[in-house]
Order: sequence, then C-alpha cells, then structure tokens
Amino acid sequence: MKVLLLGTAAGGGFPQWNCACRLCKSGATPRSQDCVAISADGKGWYLLNASPDIRSQILSTPALAAGPGPREIPILGGLLTDAELDHSLGLLMLREAAGGLPIWAPDAVLHALRDCFPMREIIDGYAGWEWLPISSGTTLGSLTVQVLPVSDKHPKYARSSTVDGPWVVAYRIEDPATGGVLVYAPCLKSWPDGFDKFVEGADLVLLDGTFYSPSEMSGATHATDGAQYAMGHIPISGEHGSLARIAASRGTTRWAYTHLNNTNPVLDATSPEHATVLASGAELPLDGTEFKL
Ligand code: MLT
Ligand code: MN
Ligand code: ZN
Repeated sequence: MKVLLLGTAAGGGFPQWNCACRLCKSGATPRSQDCVAISADGKGWYLLNASPDIRSQILSTPALAAGPGPREIPILGGLLTDAELDHSLGLLMLREAAGGLPIWAPDAVLHALRDCFPMREIIDGYAGWEWLPISSGTTLGSLTVQVLPVSDKHPKYARSSTVDGPWVVAYRIEDPATGGVLVYAPCLKSWPDGFDKFVEGADLVLLDGTFYSPSEMSGATHATDGAQYAMGHIPISGEHGSLARIAASRGTTRWAYTHLNNTNPVLDATSPEHATVLASGAELPLDGTEFKL
C-alpha cells in the first residue's frame, strides 16, 4: 500500500492567512491542510478526507494526475473521519469528477453534510455521487477498513445537531497483499478506549498533532485553555499527551504527527519541541511524504 501525505496542517493551514504570530511569520516550511491518498496498486487512489487545498494538492502530486482518457482520474473515492470543514470542503472542489465519486463516512457526518451544511445536495447537482455509511469490513478495492469511534465533537456549523455519533472516527486500513497496515487518526480528543488495540501491529499511525501543549492557544490568540480543549485535540506533550503514550508502546510501528495547528511550535524544525518529538521516536513528515506499507 502506498500512502501519500497531501497535506499535514490543521484547518487554516500553515502559515494561516489571518495570522501574524511569530511562527506564521517565521518562514518555517508551509503545510497545506490535512489530507491523505492511499493506493494498493499505485494506479487507483482513495482520499482520506478532502481538504480545501485539494486542487493544488492533486496538481502537485504526479500520481494523482488526470488521464490517460480526457476526463479520467485515478481517484476512485474518499473516506471522511469527521465533518469538519477542513476535512470536507474539498469535496466541493471535486464536483467536476465525471460521474461523481463514492464517499464513505460515519452516519453523523453524512447527516451533517446534508442537513447542517447542504454540501451533498450541491455536489449531487453535478453528478451522481454516492454517500455511503462506513463500517468495519468496508472494502476499498483490495484494501479493508476498520473503524474506531473517537469522539462526538460536532463541527461549529453543526453544533445544535442532536443526531447520535460517533461524529469523529479513526480508520485502520490493511492491504492483504502486503500485510501493510495504516492507522489514520487526525482528530483525537483523548487517547480513545481501544486505541492501543486498534493500532496493534500497524506499520504507520498518522496521529493528531494539532497542539503541542494543552495551553498554546492562549499564548497565541488569548483563547482560554477551555476553548482549546473544546476543539477536541489531545496535545502532544504532557502527562496525558500522546507522546507519552507513544513512548510507552515500543514496537515496529512508525508514529507520524499530522493536522498541525499554526500555533504548534514543532512547525519550526529548529525548535526544542520539534527535537523532543523526534527524540521520542515520533516523526513530523512534511507535505508530499510517501510511505510504502
Ligand atoms: C478542528 O480540527 O478542530 C477543526 O477543523 C477546527 C475548525 O476548523 O473549526
Ligand atoms: Mn481540523
Ligand atoms: Zn500564526
């Protein structure tokens, strides 16, 4: 299985257009918004989330180039982990796909994209897209998918919805031909129940790296720690952070952080925080990184 990191930043990307903080002005390597492409054969690809940057992400990725037929594309469908705009707005940019695409997502996400923000109706006006509830055992060609419910964090535009969750999930994708296993978990409110088992034997875990510390939003934007917590992202550092959990689980699994927020000091490759993550055995891959599992 091939895994291409198309984007590795949180909503807004890095640098963020409306931000003049030290990091955004630092000249550190830019990152586009979180999005991944996976393929068993290197020919047909499935997207994991659809970022608002999808157009430039596709155009800068030779494997995703259109052809050989005039309207042929190698993208065969997509999976959504949640209904956040930074993970779903890209579907609007893909509206030109001839014949539409199948999109798999949890029920609450399919509901949000129909009843809270009518993206599905808009896209369906272009072609016959398929909106499919995801469950463990779903197959993407030869790849198999398992689903772990992660949290019930609603997007802001769907804050008043009373539909049952899970609103956020993680995926475990296995390639039976190689035995390769990817876990994609870009939005973790905490270390979820069952997550250790879910990642067991994985070759690569793409993990929520939104925040380094539990209070970094307050330093950058004067948001309260409560507001950061409410965003539903476990910090990397600290006693209850993800790095401590990774360090405790020595094995052959590679751990790579994605969905980095513009407030996260690890964006600066010369920062002590960046060095701490690498020294703890985790990775901070840039956009365009490719893995073979
Ligand atoms: C998140 O990951 O918390 C969301 O994308 C934030 C947002 O875009 O409002
Ligand atoms: Mn996000
Ligand atoms: Zn900034």
